[in-house]
Amino acid sequence: MIDFVKLIHLVAAIFWMGGMGFMLLALRPAAVALLQPPERLMLMGAVWKRFFPIVLVSIVALFTTGTNLYTTAFKAIKAATGQGAVPLGWNLMLVFGLLMMVVFAYIYWVAYPKFKRAMAALDWPTAGKAAAQVHTWMVINFALGWLAIVAVRLVR
Ligand code: HEM
Repeated sequence: MIDFVKLIHLVAAIFWMGGMGFMLLALRPAAVALLQPPERLMLMGAVWKRFFPIVLVSIVALFTTGTNLYTTAFKAIKAATGQGAVPLGWNLMLVFGLLMMVVFAYIYWVAYPKFKRAMAALDWPTAGKAAAQVHTWMVINFALGWLAIVAVRLVR
């Protein structure tokens, strides 16, 4: 059962991290190189419309499986040793993971709606600024994601 929970955790992490990696390293640079603002903004808006619901599902899966993995191991260690302790890397993953979720909440409920409102009003400069905000916070989340992965693998 624990292997299955960990598999779901990994699948969700791969969807979120892989999606951000593709967007930041391939899609956006290609859009910047080939398209001018109105079309570029429309493309990014159409991409986010499809990607963000995937991130929401990934977050629910990461949080439920992550806390399940954490508490299951915590209880087992406590039963075996009398002391409840997990590796520091796990606590770091919890902190980085929660930070990523807060950052995504900001993107999804603040920056992205601002972008959508500006697009609906054909206000390209404001939409461009909101898109730049989404981009900046996504870069931050991508970095936090790697810190979480490095922590869980390397910090004991
Ligand atoms: C509330 C958030 C999270 C919690 C509580 C959590 C907790 C955990 C726990 C307990 C493990 C098992 C570690 C082990 O067996 O050695 C784990 C593994 C893992 N987590 Fe998370 N996690 C969270 C969020 C994330 C996020 C956001 C990512 C992606 C960026 C992520 C990526 C991974 C990966 C790749 C592993 C696999 C490590 C391995 O196979 O040893 N987790 N997580």
